[in-house]
Amino acid sequence: MIFMRHSTDHIAVICGARPNFMKVAPLCAAFVREGISHVLVNTGQHFSKEMAADFFDEFQLEPTYHLPSSEGLSTCAQFAHIMQELESVFLKEQPSLVLVVGDVNSTLVGALVANKMQIPLGHIEAGLRSHNWKMPEEANRVLTDTLSDFLFVPSEEAVENLRRESIVDGVHVVGNIMIDTLQLFIKNGKPPTEGRYYFATLHRAENVDDPVVFDQILSACDELRRDAQIFLPLHPRTKKMAQQYGYLERLGRIFTLLPPLSYGESLAYQKHATLVLTDSGGIQEETSFLGVPCLTIRTETERPITVELGTNTIAGVSRESILDAYRRVDLKKRTTTIPLWDGKTSERIIDILKEV
Ligand code: UD1
Repeated sequence: MIFMRHSTDHIAVICGARPNFMKVAPLCAAFVREGISHVLVNTGQHFSKEMAADFFDEFQLEPTYHLPSSEGLSTCAQFAHIMQELESVFLKEQPSLVLVVGDVNSTLVGALVANKMQIPLGHIEAGLRSHNWKMPEEANRVLTDTLSDFLFVPSEEAVENLRRESIVDGVHVVGNIMIDTLQLFIKNGKPPTEGRYYFATLHRAENVDDPVVFDQILSACDELRRDAQIFLPLHPRTKKMAQQYGYLERLGRIFTLLPPLSYGESLAYQKHATLVLTDSGGIQEETSFLGVPCLTIRTETERPITVELGTNTIAGVSRESILDAYRRVDLKKRTTTIPLWDGKTSERIIDILKEV
């Protein structure tokens, strides 16, 4: 007789970079509530205290495994290093299911190891597509989805994206897991600073690794700062590239620089801002939920629902396109309603896993 294991027998949840932590937090909490056996594995992709450890404290996450840091390794060496370490963990734990979230390198590494070890794989936030192959995240999304048995998608358009790639089995519309966390952490507290201000985040490889694009974005922000003080928490990648291109002094002149923020601080800065400028994926969603106008400093988004039903405008990456979008943006806050952004996504995922 072949012993068939149920998906929920023993689940390995993978996280590794900052935008993963707010996605695994509600899931792990729900697993604890439901008594579902699981381990949380931190790949160590983000290794600085303020990019990783501080979030474990904030979300009360206790990874069962912290893989040895891959600090200083090239991307390929980092992949190889995490793959080997994850293989050892999976050999020991024998998970019945591996769950990965989002689109960072750790997502794809987890997916590859699960596939090579023939362990069923679930991807939370499946089906998002920017169609921009310059983004490392796009390859991570497409490849992870191709390998996944369970594709937990946030919206109907993601179902359509997957269908175009002939992925139809195992697709479940469950909503946006980020909102589960946001609803728990949003506070009615005071603004983090006095007066009217803009809040910006900037770190995407295709924006800050290219000196021309980086220069265009800074040049636009230099105009915007005439209207309001712009706060920018400085991401390690952005700092490194600004140093390399000699832009650091300029960054300090244009923006009021902050260290990387906690999740709660980031939400507070967003909530009370007159305008948010960002190249992050999650912040497009958070501002849409909070009803705060957002200019996305990219040429496209894998989250079109934030443009259709939220507060997001795609501003491009040239000085002129950003200034043009800025001139046209409506700076009024507004209430938004987006299907399944209701804080119940982790519950829906668990219901599906229990059924199969
Ligand atoms: C990664 C994700 C991106 C996500 C972002 C959020 C990929 C491909 N990209 O980008 O989708 O939006 O995280 O932060 O996975 N570094 C530090 N300290 C750290 C982490 C990184 O100094 O804690 C340095 C690294 O050494 C590297 C650079 O920052 O030189 C970029 O780190 P990396 O993990 O490659 O990607 P991110 O740009 O952070």
